[in-house]
Amino acid sequence: MPLPDIEPIPSPRLTLRTVRIEDLPALLTINGDPEVTRFLPYPTWASIDDGRAWLERMEGLTAAGATRQLVITLNATAQVIGTFLVFRYDEGSARAEVGYVLGRKHWGQGLMHEALRAFCRHAYTRLGLRRLEAEVNPDNAASNAVLQRVGFRHEGTFRQRWVAKGRAYDTHFYGLLASDWSDSP
Ligand SMILES: CC(C)(COP(=O)(O)OP(=O)(O)OC[C@H]1O[C@@H](n2cnc3c(N)ncnc32)[C@H](O)[C@@H]1OP(=O)(O)O)[C@@H](O)C(=O)NCCC(=O)NCCS
Repeated sequence: MPLPDIEPIPSPRLTLRTVRIEDLPALLTINGDPEVTRFLPYPTWASIDDGRAWLERMEGLTAAGATRQLVITLNATAQVIGTFLVFRYDEGSARAEVGYVLGRKHWGQGLMHEALRAFCRHAYTRLGLRRLEAEVNPDNAASNAVLQRVGFRHEGTFRQRWVAKGRAYDTHFYGLLASDWSDSP
């Protein structure tokens, strides 16, 4: 069975919902910023064609059943301000990995903390997942902080696991079990 469709996930300031083709111009602003893509395993988008190719890839992965690509929107304006990827879903083990990106002008307001908490709640109470995972570059201080503040545990470090942008780098591996999860902020 594939990962079930994810219905819109609300939080006080945000909604996580499935990506649509109309989101690409907003996503180009986000992924066209080299500061945003600095720690990401893909190049900075140069044009809307990069966005189209990305969406096509995401649609293929979604059809294969283990991936769902969501976007993060602001409730106040419906503006798309980021992405939230659920991938490497393993039905038998009821686990999946998450990856997230926020446009630079929205950093530092606790928004990814809010989005990740909302997703964790949904994953454990609605999707029946029992474990969420994330891999992060040790130098990505903000992302490591977000995960730890939500309650993810640093379970190990893989040496030179990825090569991206011409350089090999380590990754911190994080996990959060449904049984670790506390819904209080
Ligand atoms: C990582 C990212 C999603 C964080 O989003 P955010 O909404 O700015 O994060 P929050 O405001 O929820 O802040 C989370 C924590 O990070 C800390 N933080 C934020 N920016 C930081 C920085 N540059 N250096 C150190 N800590 C930082 C905050 O103080 C906060 O810690 P606290 O909760 O203990 O106070 C955002 O910076 C981003 O999109 N970066 C580019 C894409 C990326 O790297 N994605 C992750 C790939 S693994």
